[in-house]
Amino acid sequence: MTFLFNSDAARGAIFREVLAREIPDLRFAIDPAQVEADDVRYMITWLVPPDLGAYRRLEILFSIGAGIDQFNAASVPPGVKIVRMVEDGIVRMMQEYVTLAVLALHRNWPAYLDQQRQPLWRAIPQPQAQDRRIGVLGLGLLGQAVLERLKPFGFPLSGWSRSPRAIEGVTTHHGADGLDLLLSTTDILVCLLPLTAQTRGLLDAGRLARLPRGAALVQTGRGAQLDQAALLAALDSGHLAGAVLDVTDPEPLPADHPLWRHPRVLITPHVASVTQPETAARAVAENIKRHRAGLDPVGLVDRSRGY
Ligand code: GLV
Repeated sequence: MTFLFNSDAARGAIFREVLAREIPDLRFAIDPAQVEADDVRYMITWLVPPDLGAYRRLEILFSIGAGIDQFNAASVPPGVKIVRMVEDGIVRMMQEYVTLAVLALHRNWPAYLDQQRQPLWRAIPQPQAQDRRIGVLGLGLLGQAVLERLKPFGFPLSGWSRSPRAIEGVTTHHGADGLDLLLSTTDILVCLLPLTAQTRGLLDAGRLARLPRGAALVQTGRGAQLDQAALLAALDSGHLAGAVLDVTDPEPLPADHPLWRHPRVLITPHVASVTQPETAARAVAENIKRHRAGLDPVGLVDRSRGY
């Protein structure tokens, strides 16, 4: 049985070592030319390779990232399990990034950076955490982990997901009405949703308008969930006070895009959370063991939901 690693050699070396230790009977390959296609049971990749059909006995296709929207799931044979990357490194980095972004927006950093460029020494009225409502879209592992990290600051926390969820210390909403309610009661919105047919374009002009005046956005899901022109208009009209964007559409954001130079926008190049090879390799090994024991891998994608 072979595990085919379809990504960079540096990370591959770490996967090779961890898998050899955890699952000694598994062969490991980085170069598809060196493998017997019928021996490949597991593959990890960012994109679905065009010759996937050649691996007739493939059992699991692992995504090297947390998202699987870059996969064309229709091109993956129905019997092959698709598994998202769920690993401690991704979770920890997302907790760091969203906490940083929420605190930056809470403490008016985009506005202070703008003042610094002028330069202008002027205090901006500072609401207290108890008066700054944080709303998180997406209550999967990442959304829940981020909310947990934000708890000690004392912000009122709420969250929204497709189906109902109960989280201690968090007001939860679901469904279409729940989304409208969350938006109208959120001062800093964090989008951690997966990209699906339902979430594409979700944050459009109408939904941004539901946020209270002076609200801000942290976009850490996927760029295509956000109508960037609507965001610009909402920032320019003063309806929204700021935004932190780690994902854009397209990526990279073109150099002449007005969001780059907007004084109330902070942009990072899709780095909020990056798969960490050591922890990821352990998570993959654990999932192969689960699969061999007849259990579902952690992060198994439900093809009907699209994540
Ligand atoms: C990054 O966005 C990932 O999907 O891991």
